Amino acid sequence: MSVTMQIKRATVEAHSRLKKRASIASPAVLSSFVFLLISALVFACWINTSIFSGPFQISIFTTSKAPDIPLKCTEWNMTQTCPANYPTKQTHDRDLYHRIPGNECPSFFRWIHEDLQPWKEIGITKDMVERARQDAHFHLVILDGKVYLERFKPAYQTRDVFTLWGMLQLLRWYPGELPDLELMFNCNDRPIVQSKDFPHPKPGPPPLFGYCRHRRTLDLVFPDWSFWGWVETNIKPWTHVLKDIEESNKRTPWSDRKPYAYWRGNPYVAQARKDLLKCNVTKKHDWNTRVYIQDWGRETKQGYKDSNLADQCTHRYKIYIEGQAWSVSEKYILACNSMTLLIKPQYMDFFTRGLVPLQHYWPIRDNKKCTSLKVAVEWGNNHTEKAKAIGEAGSRFIYEDLKMEHVYDYMYHLLNEYAKLFRYKPTVPKGAVELCSETMACPTKGTYKKFMLDSMVKSPRRASPCSLPPPYDPPSLEALIESKANLTWQVETWEDEYWQSVNKD
Ligand SMILES: *[C@@H]1O[C@H](CO)[C@@H](O)[C@H](O)[C@H]1NC(C)=O
Ligand SMILES: *[C@@H]1O[C@H](CO)[C@@H](O)[C@H](O)[C@H]1NC(C)=O
Ligand SMILES: *[C@@H]1O[C@H](CO)[C@@H](O)[C@H](O)[C@H]1NC(C)=O
Ligand SMILES: *[C@@H]1O[C@H](CO)[C@@H](O)[C@H](O)[C@H]1NC(C)=O
Repeated sequence: MSVTMQIKRATVEAHSRLKKRASIASPAVLSSFVFLLISALVFACWINTSIFSGPFQISIFTTSKAPDIPLKCTEWNMTQTCPANYPTKQTHDRDLYHRIPGNECPSFFRWIHEDLQPWKEIGITKDMVERARQDAHFHLVILDGKVYLERFKPAYQTRDVFTLWGMLQLLRWYPGELPDLELMFNCNDRPIVQSKDFPHPKPGPPPLFGYCRHRRTLDLVFPDWSFWGWVETNIKPWTHVLKDIEESNKRTPWSDRKPYAYWRGNPYVAQARKDLLKCNVTKKHDWNTRVYIQDWGRETKQGYKDSNLADQCTHRYKIYIEGQAWSVSEKYILACNSMTLLIKPQYMDFFTRGLVPLQHYWPIRDNKKCTSLKVAVEWGNNHTEKAKAIGEAGSRFIYEDLKMEHVYDYMYHLLNEYAKLFRYKPTVPKGAVELCSETMACPTKGTYKKFMLDSMVKSPRRASPCSLPPPYDPPSLEALIESKANLTWQVETWEDEYWQSVNKD
């Protein structure tokens, strides 16, 4: 069988898997039908009340309307404090239709159970949390819906600030719905807690939160700061970036994009990225790859003219490569509607475990990047419809499974499951300060303030969180991992066959 035939078959298989998922999603169709029915009933009821009892019509809607939580900044010359009457309870009824079953979270939420596995039996004790202190940038305590912070050391740039901001917004989104808990958070790129250091269930590894993990570490993955904005690179809060990229996608349809693999970034943070520079087009070689260096120093001075993410959806193929560890760029790259060429990653963040090769992206070898990239682009240019479909599926994943509501739901479920494991009741540590959106946002200025206000949750959510899918049973988890490895391995086999036939000629 020819290489192209085989690739064709595999993508067809990946697509039929997609379709299967779509048909599994039919409860969604059912629930929207039920929703319509209920809205019709509510509407009829409203008409009824408005005809027969005048002003009562209003109360029907106000019961389900979540009140705004305004930011209450005090006068400039006074010390900002947290308002005493902060909502710490769910004060409104959820909308009827949001209670309808079938609102299951995306499949990557199932990894919450896997990540918490080391503590399933033995629980989380004060001693374990304390052992995470040495690697943490901050210690956060949630008690009765209020947040207390103990800072240990500054994090790089404003990572800690916007991570904390995100946590506070979660509490505005679901007030009073988070249990008492405390956590230690590492804001560095790399995960820290090595599984090999904890060969026995006891004394239990320290539960340390961070942005990513490695297959040999036990860190608990949490959404990174950039979902609320990355001030130093002028990357707006996630919902705003998504809108910008979506508009740009409409402006530049796939067929108008350049038929090459594109990457722009800072190559000096990792050897693999420096290697990638060697794949750039030269007079001698064309690996179908175009790479550009992002000089953040210059960008900052020039007002970020060349680094706007929405202006980077100009090529049919976009390369993702890790930096020191996982890179925040992955979600922006996948959102572009171009086929993502994913150079084999070492680290995982909370959502990337939901990505499937040949369905959402094309896998690229990490040890033979240039030849691997060349074949991927050539294949895509030979099969434009299929490459386009992979690009679109990757973007759909980002716009649906990774929309901000799901980011909050992931945090919500992770923290709830984490807190269930507590074997003690946390208390406010000595020296901790109360943290709220006012103490964080009121004193800030400029881009900080703008990003905070733009990403601020204005009122509690009306809908319930999506429902957390159950843990994988061990055989199905193994099968899932194996089938992904299989697809990657197949692509690598085609690549080898391609180069063998080229070198023979
Ligand atoms: C703050 O400034 C206002 C107006 O200038 C003044 O009336 C008030 O007393 C000041 N408050 C404090 C705590 O200094
Ligand atoms: C890669 O090649 C393109 C096209 O020749 C060029 O504009 C770009 O500066 C090169 N990138 C690097 C990092 O040399
Ligand atoms: C692309 O098509 C050309 C011409 O049919 C063929 O020689 C080449 O092997 C194909 N490459 C890939 C990667 O499918
Ligand atoms: C992996 O691929 C091989 C060969 O194509 C196949 O026999 C095997 O069943 C696949 N395993 C999974 C889990 O898909």
